[in-house]
Amino acid sequence: MVSYDAADLPATARIRYMGNKHAIAGEIAGLVSERTRGIPIVDVFCGLSSIASAIAPSKRPVWGNDVQAYAALAARCQTASAKGPLKSGDMARRLAPHYSRNLRALKARFEDELATEARALRGPGKKGYRAAHDTWTHAGNDPRVAAEVDSLRAAPDQFPARLCVLSYSWGYFGLKQSMSLDSIRFALDQAHREHELSRPQWEWGVLAMLQAASICAATSGHFAQYLRGRTETSYRRILRQRARDPWVEFLTACDELQPFGSREWRRLNRCYSTDALGLWPKLDTDGLADAIIYADPPYSRDQYSRFYHVLETLVRYDYPSVSGIGRYRADRFQTEFSVKSKVRTAFERLLAAISDRDFSLVLSYPSNGLFMKASPDYSLEEVLRDHFDRVELAMRARLSHSTLGARHGASSVPVEELVWIAD
Ligand SMILES: C[S@@+](CC[C@H](N)C(=O)[O-])C[C@H]1O[C@@H](n2cnc3c(N)ncnc32)[C@H](O)[C@@H]1O
Repeated sequence: MVSYDAADLPATARIRYMGNKHAIAGEIAGLVSERTRGIPIVDVFCGLSSIASAIAPSKRPVWGNDVQAYAALAARCQTASAKGPLKSGDMARRLAPHYSRNLRALKARFEDELATEARALRGPGKKGYRAAHDTWTHAGNDPRVAAEVDSLRAAPDQFPARLCVLSYSWGYFGLKQSMSLDSIRFALDQAHREHELSRPQWEWGVLAMLQAASICAATSGHFAQYLRGRTETSYRRILRQRARDPWVEFLTACDELQPFGSREWRRLNRCYSTDALGLWPKLDTDGLADAIIYADPPYSRDQYSRFYHVLETLVRYDYPSVSGIGRYRADRFQTEFSVKSKVRTAFERLLAAISDRDFSLVLSYPSNGLFMKASPDYSLEEVLRDHFDRVELAMRARLSHSTLGARHGASSVPVEELVWIAD
């Protein structure tokens, strides 16, 4: 059994995942490489693909799946695309005319509001900022704006693109920043429609846009809520974040983002975006006869879809109805692995699907995960033994998991991550 201590997760990705597995991905890749060479590993909750990145040098194929569209997009780009993104100069040349056209239209409509924002950010202090914030109407607090979003949902290609402006301004992003993000997205879509960008180039562009959004957002690190300037620290942070320019960050991301591994390796890989509980017939149809399944399911009651809903919406760009202070999309995916009354059944279904196919399993789960709280009389190890002939606890690692903000007090807590191998 490998024992591993990693108090701090390295920030290798700009779009960061709560509790990601970067710190132990290499160890997990090592466990897998000792097993049957060449057969694919299927990472059914792939998140930001840290396992694929660690597996890449071994040339073993990795098939990724994540129910969230933004994670699946990142997986497609980084693990299964022939090339990396267009470099900034080339991207800027192709997008600039479309970007400027959308931006001009938005500036013309929101001229007065832009001036109000500029004044508020120049510094009447946090009271002035909050007063201006409270007068802003958006899709989450005003029926007229919500009705405009409804009509755009039915015809999302209407000009100018304005999802961020209508739904997230004076919140996660400033108004000016939202205009820029919408205009980047419009430019990507328009360039793709006019055959100036291939589909993979468009996908890398959307990933670079997510990077820009993550870097510019006024949040405490995820999208469950935005900073509202209640304290001097939060107000100062808002000012710093609002000074960032999404277009500049987007172009920087085009130069920074890179695919993992070799082109030959990426050609072997596949990506899916569906509920891990319903993935199996698709894998059968695609001829997956032998595989190692890597499962790193959600482990707490915190729904990932709540913490990353803005990224999800920026990928889908489908003008969802939004509500609540966090302006959450109404149709957020609710995973059964994060519902106390459902987590045990979810595990049973997942393990049955894997063992029915005679696949091997590598399972990562913290020792204080929701399953343990929901099922004190039937341990995870017992469930594994009921589905597999051989079960081995292969690794214990001390990790630091983000607690996702103030609701829980401390910003991170030490957890013990357990890694089982079963076949
Ligand atoms: C613990 S994270 C995985 C992190 C990943 N190993 C990494 O290193 O980035 C769990 C992931 O599962 C996804 N997810 C949650 N429920 C799911 C489900 N039912 N089916 C597929 N993916 C799901 C979440 O979107 C999230 O990205």
